[in-house]
Amino acid sequence: MSSIIEDLIARKIFNNRGEETIEVDVITAGGFGRAGAPAGKSRGKSEVAYYPQGGVEAAIKRVDDLIAPELAGLNADFQDEIDSTLHEIDGTTDFKNIGGNTAFAISLANVEAAANSHGLLLFQFIGGNAANTLPYPLGNCISGGAHVRGKGPVIQEYLALPHGAESFLEAQTANTKIHKKIGDLLKKKSTTFNGGKSDEGAWISNITTDDAFEVMARACEEIGNELDFECGFGIDVAASSFWKAKEEKYIYENQGKKRDTAEQLEYMIELIEKYHLIYVEDPFQEDDFDSFSELTKKSKNCMICGDDLFTTNTERLNNGIKINAGNAIIIKVNQIGTLTDAAETIETAQRNGYNAVVSHRSGDTCDWHIAHLAVAYKCPVIKTGVVEGSRIAKLNELIRIEHFLGDRAKMADLNIR
Ligand code: PGA
Ligand code: ZN
Repeated sequence: MSSIIEDLIARKIFNNRGEETIEVDVITAGGFGRAGAPAGKSRGKSEVAYYPQGGVEAAIKRVDDLIAPELAGLNADFQDEIDSTLHEIDGTTDFKNIGGNTAFAISLANVEAAANSHGLLLFQFIGGNAANTLPYPLGNCISGGAHVRGKGPVIQEYLALPHGAESFLEAQTANTKIHKKIGDLLKKKSTTFNGGKSDEGAWISNITTDDAFEVMARACEEIGNELDFECGFGIDVAASSFWKAKEEKYIYENQGKKRDTAEQLEYMIELIEKYHLIYVEDPFQEDDFDSFSELTKKSKNCMICGDDLFTTNTERLNNGIKINAGNAIIIKVNQIGTLTDAAETIETAQRNGYNAVVSHRSGDTCDWHIAHLAVAYKCPVIKTGVVEGSRIAKLNELIRIEHFLGDRAKMADLNIR
């Protein structure tokens, strides 16, 4: 089958928040690929620009007028050539001219079209026969921070990680049970709880940061006992969203507390020890590499993960590696624009002993590409909620991949240090 690109078709679609986004089809002589771009709400400031001036419509026009004619005739099998052409056409360092989301949609649709042209599933095309490990699902159960507009816990996400599961299906079963159990506990805890959920399908409740920890710990323990394997949990602090640079303090509204950097470090250590957290994302504001390094040194058996800190950017990751800032990294392809850039970041992370955590965005579509990327690149964790349509699309695809692999499927090596 031929992978020569014949055409690109771009259109406006909507994400789960009802926001406009771009979707691109790549048509080759023997195949087809399609991808829609996600959107963040608590975005890192080093992320690439999403759209050129003029938004999604301007982006579509760039595809029609500039990009489609340039890519037609190229071979979709050569992803690096497609992605470097996108960089060349754009001509800036942050995709200001064509939009990072435009680059994302083309890049992902292209790799899918290449796989499809060869009659292969996406994870097989990228990862070959060695791609047989499934990631552990890191599932958001309670929302806070910017995701609930400050009306709940200050910490943005409380995430279950059933790391004792022996299969992906078992792990996702645990997460759905934990999520449900938390709903039941919140009903008892708060009279105002009405079963509302955030964009990522996590519960919204007007409880305190401390109560959210108690509820999480109890649900994970009970479900772990019921299923007879370890179900741990962690948090995405998203600390940049409540860091007040002028005061140099983290503002914990509903605890009535302000913490300076040293106190924030102490608080994070206290939480890790008290709740045996196995995952802590963005515990400090996005430029504080030094505190990440301190926390990594002082904590044990916990992934210290950079999201806004690294923004899937190899250069920023290399700055972190030099001083051991963190031991895990969030991979969101649209933070950097293309699959080739993201793959370079994943490889750099893995060479240096960092766990790569492939992630959804809070505003997402029903695309399932990240499920395939997690398997293709042997990422030990996928962060993509527990319930809600856009999350379930990815989780169910992983169940299908595991089923397809049969006896060859195994869980990835989760190296928690
Ligand atoms: P997002 O953030 O809203 O930018 O997708 C989620 C996260 O911080 O991980
Ligand atoms: Zn995050």
